[in-house]
Amino acid sequence: MKKTYIIGTSGHSRVVLDILEKRGQDIAGFLDEDEATHDTMINNYPVIGYVSKLKELEASVIIAISHNPTRRKIFNQLSSYNVQLINAIHPDTTINSHVDLGTGNLIAAGAVINSNSVIGDNVIINTGATVDYESRIEDHVHISPGVNLGGNVTVKEGAHIGIGASVLPGVTIGENVTVGAGAVVINNLEANAVYAGVPAEKVRDIN
Ligand SMILES: CC(C)(COP(=O)(O)OP(=O)(O)OC[C@H]1O[C@@H](n2cnc3c(N)ncnc32)[C@H](O)[C@@H]1OP(=O)(O)O)[C@@H](O)C(=O)NCCC(=O)NCCS
Repeated sequence: MKKTYIIGTSGHSRVVLDILEKRGQDIAGFLDEDEATHDTMINNYPVIGYVSKLKELEASVIIAISHNPTRRKIFNQLSSYNVQLINAIHPDTTINSHVDLGTGNLIAAGAVINSNSVIGDNVIINTGATVDYESRIEDHVHISPGVNLGGNVTVKEGAHIGIGASVLPGVTIGENVTVGAGAVVINNLEANAVYAGVPAEKVRDIN
């Protein structure tokens, strides 16, 4: 089995570590672009160095960074390396057998993904979030803890749905949108903006 490296050292990376331990992965340790973290230990595993360390290695990797633009940047950096992105799927999830799941994804404890949904690459479906039938979650999306998506929802690339938000069936969330915590999204949301409230309304544009 190839050794597995976790990219990122925040609290989120510890959630990923726990999943990999539960899945019996052979974990080498962490990588991080912040030099101050190097040579420290996280829950008994070393922070080994920069992400570029992976250039020299054939390894399994998961990017454990919740900030979508940073996670996307590292995903693109890894595309020229000889590494294998893996999914980190907590054992206590319910994923319908007709779900099409990409790679480099985190599916945290208690998440439910219902039938015929499609999940891209480098996605986070966080703790206790639900994705109902025939939904489409594109690359680099973060569905936060406790979010509920109705059936036939589309979440476009790079969008972030905040903690506890609900999205009505059939709605499309545009690219790079942020939905505020606790929002209820009843209409399609245009790309590159922040929305919040019940029902969700635009707070500001994102440049
Ligand atoms: C919506 C959000 C992105 C706005 O952040 P921001 O752009 O920094 O905006 P501000 O905090 O300056 O707030 C702007 C306005 O929106 C309101 N607002 C902020 N968050 C809100 C929310 N979740 N619901 C309703 N209104 C909200 C503020 O009260 C403020 O209103 P005002 O202009 O009348 O004073 C942020 O508050 C949020 O909810 N982020 C989600 C965080 C999250 O779930 N993280 C998951 C980690 S796992």
